[in-house]
Amino acid sequence: LLGMPAYAVIGGQWGDEGKGKVIDYLAGNVDSVVRYAGGNNAGHTVVNEKGTFQLHLVPSGICWPDVYGIIGNGVVVDPDVLVNELAEIGARGIDTSKLVISERAHVIMPYHVVLDALEEEARGDAAIGTTGRGIGPAYMDKTGRMGIRIGDLLDWEALVPMVTQVLEHKNALITKVYGGKALALDDVLAKCRIWADHMAPYAMATEQLVQDLLGQNKRVLLEGAQGTLLDIDHGSYPYVTSSSPSIGGACTGLGLNPQAIKGVLGVFKAYSTRVGSGPMPSEITDDEAEEIREKAQEFGVTTGRARRIGWFDGVAAKYSQLINGFTGIVLTRLDILDEFDSVKVCVGYEVSGERLDRFPANTGLLARCKPVFEEMPGWDKPTASATELSQLPENALAYVHKIEELVGCRAQIISTGPSRAETIQVEPVFT
Ligand code: IMO
Ligand code: MG
Repeated sequence: LLGMPAYAVIGGQWGDEGKGKVIDYLAGNVDSVVRYAGGNNAGHTVVNEKGTFQLHLVPSGICWPDVYGIIGNGVVVDPDVLVNELAEIGARGIDTSKLVISERAHVIMPYHVVLDALEEEARGDAAIGTTGRGIGPAYMDKTGRMGIRIGDLLDWEALVPMVTQVLEHKNALITKVYGGKALALDDVLAKCRIWADHMAPYAMATEQLVQDLLGQNKRVLLEGAQGTLLDIDHGSYPYVTSSSPSIGGACTGLGLNPQAIKGVLGVFKAYSTRVGSGPMPSEITDDEAEEIREKAQEFGVTTGRARRIGWFDGVAAKYSQLINGFTGIVLTRLDILDEFDSVKVCVGYEVSGERLDRFPANTGLLARCKPVFEEMPGWDKPTASATELSQLPENALAYVHKIEELVGCRAQIISTGPSRAETIQVEPVFT
């Protein structure tokens, strides 16, 4: 049976909760960090004594030299992006030799990036605001059974007819439906040739590696990307991403059985952000939103877009807890609220005068939800850079307790700044 269990770190909101920081912080006590969903739509920021790193595909444990970085089968990989990212962090003195990629992971092909833009344009006012990285089209081909996998790149004989056939279909779509420009088969195949060489050293049966690590009593940390409210099944559809960032995705995106997962950490910001379109009931657009955005530099790591800002949404958080069964909360960016006279939390929704206490499936209904805010007093001294719970002012602690109450589980870690050291370990995560 399994030796050491796996632990998951999952976005509890709309992404950008600070998962990269949390992973880097925890990775010193694990043997591998595994990405299981999404692709380079993710932007995970890691700040430690080695510098500041903005990672899109490389797992956020990379700064720890003895930790495996594993890209699981559930991830979609743009090999160009991966190669560039590895070169960049390698040039900064980070050892990237323990990176591996599932041979079952799907490749983001050049036509996926083209189609992402064309589809968005065709959606007009209903555009999702995707990151434009080809994520949706790549997952469409995966479920449509016409995807190209990392392993396929390594089998040239089989690959050529596969790409030839798929490209014919894609070019028809690009030119006839969207009026775009066809891609040349020779160009796409030339890309594949280069990618085959680049990917070959990393490709392997990662499900076996993870199983072996667990069997050898090694700790595995599962790195979520995006967030539960962007989940293709559980999020605010269709304003979602095309994968499963929540806990179920960790099993399918890796080939891991659920019994191996002991802890599930939900990462929540002390307020809310969302980038891209779709309803966000606790959104605010006043001066306070601007203040938070500027202070926290809430601009996308991947696209540079200004993030939408809202107060903490307790209804959405409770729903997120229901989907993931969090065993603990990681509360991030508490320090951003330091200078406010008062802070608000959304404790319920109201639709046409009626109270609604659960996150609705119907996106039209969600869009009509008005937040019911509860106001709490701000705190008189800063939480920034605190490393002990005892350093938190009383009102900040009361705010943390309010969030614990709304989500229904304990805050195990509180982040008080972007760097690894600015962290309060409230209680142990690895038990
Ligand atoms: P991390 O891992 C925040 C959003 C996009 C868009 C929607 C669909 O940094 O938390 P896609 O390109 O995935 O088809 O876009 O999902 N989105 C994210 N928002 N954080 C992310 O990742 C995101 N990845 C995708 O803005 O609304
Ligand atoms: Mg991000």
